[in-house]
Amino acid sequence: MDDKGGFPHYMIKEIFEQPRGLRETIAPRVSLEDSAVRLDDVRISAEELRGLRRINIVASGTSRHAGMAGQFMIQELANLPGDVDYASEFEYRNPLIGPGELTIVITQSGETADTTAAQREAQAKGSRTVAISNVLDSTIAREADGVLYTHAGPEISIASTKAFTAQMAVLFLFALYLGQVRGKLTREQRRQYIRELLDLPEKVEAVLKSAPDCEHLADRYYKVPDFLFLGRAIHYPIAMDGALKLKEVSYIHAEGYPTGETKHGPNALIDENLPVVIIATCDRNNPGSVLRYEKSVANIKGFKQQSARVIAIATEGDREMAGLADHTVFVPRAPELLSPILEIVPLQLFAYYMTVRKGLDVDRPRNLVKSVTLE
Ligand code: F6R
Repeated sequence: MDDKGGFPHYMIKEIFEQPRGLRETIAPRVSLEDSAVRLDDVRISAEELRGLRRINIVASGTSRHAGMAGQFMIQELANLPGDVDYASEFEYRNPLIGPGELTIVITQSGETADTTAAQREAQAKGSRTVAISNVLDSTIAREADGVLYTHAGPEISIASTKAFTAQMAVLFLFALYLGQVRGKLTREQRRQYIRELLDLPEKVEAVLKSAPDCEHLADRYYKVPDFLFLGRAIHYPIAMDGALKLKEVSYIHAEGYPTGETKHGPNALIDENLPVVIIATCDRNNPGSVLRYEKSVANIKGFKQQSARVIAIATEGDREMAGLADHTVFVPRAPELLSPILEIVPLQLFAYYMTVRKGLDVDRPRNLVKSVTLE
């Protein structure tokens, strides 16, 4: 039976399901009236959360990219330091973790072998664990102390899209919750963040309207063999995920890099044959974001001098970027910590249309499986 709901492939159906997945993940857990987040299944007492010293995050692939973004959220909203690990590396680096720490384990399927092993390692060392999973009662969800489900709905396409945005939303909710129980956020700050969270699904709907632009870009670029994806701070994991999406479905070589690192090596590669996709959004209310934006503008000018073609993901209304980059895809304004949820959408669309243009099987790329149950 074809349950693609009128779409030609699961991947594009799932990209378009993101507003719904976000709505179902966010709305039942927040109250604007009380300016509060409710996370019933965390199952770790407020007292224990108040006593936390640090957070570890372990995951694989796209789920790890969500974790990288989550670390920024938790640091900013709950004032907690932390590390993000590849689940496949975690047990081999003999991590120095223990009681007074929390390990967040992120997994769409809840069955990834590396991630299961990492969770067991964290527990053996005395850390409490909270799993973020999209599959009810999965192995990792069952073995964790607490669980936060993403309600993205079943994800069939091998490339993860709607689970990723739901994971970032849950991480934001958890960061907000930690900030709330640890007394790090005022009622007014919480209310504003909750309002922004509730606005996200509609903003993703607006980004989805850029699908024809992304298709157009794919028509122009599908024969190019290499791409560089760049971003700074919380936008770097989005560059990483944009590159991962492109390579896994279209078999085009793509690398995700922190924008500022280009001058430490990759710049030697950047010329008319290596297009640069750069996340260059700006939250004008956030001085750190403005500073990063200005540095990215300077970087883009440098890339243009090297004859590179630049595709920018920018904030709507940014005429400077439109004049600077060869192509600009706009996303709505959002606070720095939530903007990544919007920025990834055009990159997912780009990977999808590039693959379709190449005539490849976008839902089932070669050599990959949906749930990696072997270490
Ligand atoms: C990429 C992708 C993979 C998964 C990774 C972890 O699009 O889907 O990188 O994110 O295999 O899988 P889960 O989240 O099920 O643990």
